[in-house]
Amino acid sequence: MYEKDVEKQYNIMSHFYNVLYAEADMKDYEDEFINQYKEVLKELPQNAKVLDSSCGNGIQATALKKEGIEVVGTDISEEMVKLSKQYAKSNNLSFTTKQLSWQQLPLHFKEEFDVVFCCGNSISHSMSRAEMLSNIKSLYKVTKKGGKIIIDTRNWDKVLKENTRFNTSDVIEYKGKRYIFTYIWNLNGFNKASNVEILFIEITDDKETSCKSLKLNFMPFTHYDFILVLKNCGLKILKDNFHLDADNYSVILQK
Ligand SMILES: C[S@@+](CC[C@H](N)C(=O)[O-])C[C@H]1O[C@@H](n2cnc3c(N)ncnc32)[C@H](O)[C@@H]1O
Repeated sequence: MYEKDVEKQYNIMSHFYNVLYAEADMKDYEDEFINQYKEVLKELPQNAKVLDSSCGNGIQATALKKEGIEVVGTDISEEMVKLSKQYAKSNNLSFTTKQLSWQQLPLHFKEEFDVVFCCGNSISHSMSRAEMLSNIKSLYKVTKKGGKIIIDTRNWDKVLKENTRFNTSDVIEYKGKRYIFTYIWNLNGFNKASNVEILFIEITDDKETSCKSLKLNFMPFTHYDFILVLKNCGLKILKDNFHLDADNYSVILQK
């Protein structure tokens, strides 16, 4: 099953995930996230409940918790859930977490969330159009009537147009070690299973290096198709900041 592959991939990936963020200013990242959705957050009722449905390393859920919002973090990968707990703890915070795929959400929650987030290009791990529809329907089922769903994604229209095959990072320092990572993109077109292979080179000292290769499966989709899927789920589009030249875009939806 596709979901199981992605779950396994992120369980392995979790060991390197923080390296990808090592040079990012996490505070800036959190502030930017809160600022981007401040209008939605401002309208939250008292005792609102928010779900981060692919909480990953916990950066968005922690940012929400810092705003005093009750947040639940779920993710298909147990190891990513652990990362999110660690990140919250490093900020002297905690929130409820559960290892759950999007498909499993309606088995655990009712129509109870005021806002459901699906951030960081996570939805692209739906491996077919039908799977994406069914994943978003699951988010719909756990959202209150009138509640919001916020999804952000890489702009695949731009990615496929540019069709870059390789990206390599600069040398990154993390916990006393140095790393270089290279992305090798295996893009097969819109609505086709694709993957990115990430080569993590760990430089132990100036004489020794080791290399670990990881893969992440995803399916690129056009903005046009994505909007059709969202409408098919019965969602009203309140905001869509898609632009042909932007690397990412996000949509704010209402049930
Ligand atoms: C690119 S990461 C983004 C994580 C985090 N939101 C961020 O912005 O860094 C994608 C996340 O989606 C999760 N994911 C992938 N497929 C999922 C599914 N079917 N159900 C729930 N989570 C899923 C992965 O485990 C991973 O943590």
